[in-house]
Amino acid sequence: MKNRDRIRILALETSCDETAAAVVENGRRILSNVVFSQIDLHELYGGVVPEIASRAHMEACDRVVDQALQEAGLGLKDVDALAVTMGPGLVGALLTGVNCMKGIAFAAGKPLVGVNHIEGHVSANYLCHPELEPPFLCLVVSGGHSHLVEVADYGEYRLIGQTVDDAAGEAFDKAARVLGLPYPGGPRIDALAEDGNPEAFSLPSPHTEGRYDYSFSGLKTAFMNTVHMLEQRGEALPKADLAASFRRAVCRELTGKAERMLKERGHAGCRGMALAGGVSANRELRRMTREMCDRLQIPLYMPDLPLCTDNGAMIGSAAYYRLMRGEIAGLDLNAQPALRLIQEFQERV
Ligand code: KG4
Ligand code: ZN
Repeated sequence: MKNRDRIRILALETSCDETAAAVVENGRRILSNVVFSQIDLHELYGGVVPEIASRAHMEACDRVVDQALQEAGLGLKDVDALAVTMGPGLVGALLTGVNCMKGIAFAAGKPLVGVNHIEGHVSANYLCHPELEPPFLCLVVSGGHSHLVEVADYGEYRLIGQTVDDAAGEAFDKAARVLGLPYPGGPRIDALAEDGNPEAFSLPSPHTEGRYDYSFSGLKTAFMNTVHMLEQRGEALPKADLAASFRRAVCRELTGKAERMLKERGHAGCRGMALAGGVSANRELRRMTREMCDRLQIPLYMPDLPLCTDNGAMIGSAAYYRLMRGEIAGLDLNAQPALRLIQEFQERV
């Protein structure tokens, strides 16, 4: 397969609350990208309900996969391989996708590739920046992860720093809930913050043992205390200012540690800095990272907004490089809900 000049992969992502399928060519070119969001189903409960997510994936999988093929103008016979997210994520949600793709792979006689969801997020950058090649640094910030990694090569990652408690997206979602904003909180707090004063409330700078590790739980507690104090005083909550102050504090923590690392160690041959994961859609994070990279004079890579959050195309991109390395899954492929960056990418630098 390595010798073919055009490899097309049909990829499915079902790790959380998006049923998403895409067809990607050579890991770089999106032929179709269909995302069916379950937000409406979970909004009522203020968060993702795993059982509802699994059922909704089951109902949507076939339709979304068919649509991805249709929009790419291809039939199943025209794709060279299939790919699916194997973890991390909700076990039932992952299993639905894994089983769906195993069934199609078996029936069509096509190779199947299992993909790490986080590696998918990193790979979203390959879809948006044709010139991007490893090595580069990547800040992976999603609902479940906050990692600073060195992407040494395709599929080769070194951990530089990680959160010691909450993930950045989780912190945004919790703060949004304290402000009474509906699920999913991250994008809502981001939008609200655009009209607020980020200096209105001072929130602490977290301290961590590891020089490049992150912490958000102290920030979250300080934020909750500030809100409760205002409520006890019977004052109307200045929600935009609170959102802006919290967003600034989270982004300061994220970019501050990355900048510290870059200043102390230099970029060691890395070609630039990338953002990945749902939180990389955050406007303030994009602005602050841009300013940092300008200051340090290193190139910045960010996925286009629709590719920051969960989608099938990023899985198709990551799968291409796995396929090129011959990493083909058997029909015993299983969901790995706790699959972590650190398990696969053991080395800490
Ligand atoms: O990567 P993702 O779609 O799913 C996971 O793999 O977790 O990330 C979802 C997370 C949620 O916590 C969501 O609130 C957050 O990303 N998020 C944002 C923004 N857009 C999504 N957080 C802050 N600002 C945003 N604009
Ligand atoms: Zn994700």
